[in-house]
Amino acid sequence: MSSVLPVVKTFACATNTANIMPDAHILGIETSCDETGAAVVRSGQRILSNVVASQIATHQPYGGVVPELASREHLRAIVPVVRQALAEAGQTYASVDAIAVTQGPGLAGALLVGISFAKALAFALEKPLIAVNHLEGHIHAVLLEQRQSGDADLHFPVLALVVSGGHTHLYLAQVHENLWSYWNIGRTRDDAAGEAFDKVAKLLGLGYPGGPIIDGLAPHGDPHGVKFQMAQIKHPDRRNQKLGDQKKVGQLRTEEDGPHFDFSYSGIKTAVLRYVETQNMKAAIEDRRRALGGIEKPTLEDTLRLCDRQTLNLAASFQRTMVNDLVMKALAAAREYDVRTLFVSGGVAANRELRATFEREAGMQGLPVFFPSRALSTDNAAMIAAAAFPKFLRGEFVAMDFSAEAGMALR
Ligand code: KG4
Ligand code: ZN
Repeated sequence: MSSVLPVVKTFACATNTANIMPDAHILGIETSCDETGAAVVRSGQRILSNVVASQIATHQPYGGVVPELASREHLRAIVPVVRQALAEAGQTYASVDAIAVTQGPGLAGALLVGISFAKALAFALEKPLIAVNHLEGHIHAVLLEQRQSGDADLHFPVLALVVSGGHTHLYLAQVHENLWSYWNIGRTRDDAAGEAFDKVAKLLGLGYPGGPIIDGLAPHGDPHGVKFQMAQIKHPDRRNQKLGDQKKVGQLRTEEDGPHFDFSYSGIKTAVLRYVETQNMKAAIEDRRRALGGIEKPTLEDTLRLCDRQTLNLAASFQRTMVNDLVMKALAAAREYDVRTLFVSGGVAANRELRATFEREAGMQGLPVFFPSRALSTDNAAMIAAAAFPKFLRGEFVAMDFSAEAGMALR
């Protein structure tokens, strides 16, 4: 990697951009995974509409997202979802100032539906087209709501934990003249945290997506009922390259330079499987899977009724272990890089125990922590339209030959 991290400055950022910048209505489109989203956001700070068509019912029988079905569902939903977003915002195709779309990361076929549609619109309407990284969208969900609530200053350096079904990433984020840049200082070595929630829920016959279900069940179990060991990842860089006075963040030359805080969640999934096998839980799990399969839209109460104490303890212990690992690593990174603000975003940021634990632990560290509302934590297009606004101000538009980037990195 050859890029150089711009010097990090600690400064108060004028988040109320409307005072100094023109109004711009951006139509955002998001189709990276299993939600078709369209939204209109004014000047990166006011949501005029935010429509999400969920595909949960389509993927539920498979216990996970089936890529081809996701593309087909996006194709079906995209036109009505965009129309609804415009209508709810009191806007028309002609009145929006730009069209923003998720370029990646995500499922290639799913991304292509949103991109093709956004391109066609931009071409026909002769409007600028803005490509947005989905992970940047998750980070800007926090900023959007901060601006919307008129919350004052944002202090840099900012550390952002993006924790979703596909990612568990830590970024140092900064902005200079509307140019946001991101520095990756941690990532999962295998499964993402949301993926672990989904796989464990599937393993326990609880349904899909697993995160919200385990979130709902965990308060009913004993979080100390089952002991899990978290993978201890060796960080030679952290041993050898502690940040000292001579090595402040702004002086790091590459992402590899500084200490890293990686995650690993495939081990805990295997540990849950081993527990299920040694405790002879498989027959009960199959019964539950069948019973839930017979209910069209199972509620938390339906699922609770079908769970014994051992399953509830297992779910609670799994969640507690995941939450502790995410919180402890993010806070260790925050201390090491001496950040002044912490963002936590992405689908898993909707988790109530995660939010409460972050608030408690970061509070003890004197570190302000911000989350999107639970609705803006999971995939949506408002975050894409919000992330597009600084690019709009910079005139950072894409040409008509741009394409999806399934493995797109955030820089
Ligand atoms: O950000 P997102 O909507 O899509 C991706 O970009 O991946 O995140 C979806 C992930 C899923 O793995 C889902 O199980 C998890 O977020 N999730 C949760 C909760 N709500 C969604 N995980 C834990 N607790 C929740 N309340
Ligand atoms: Zn996401």
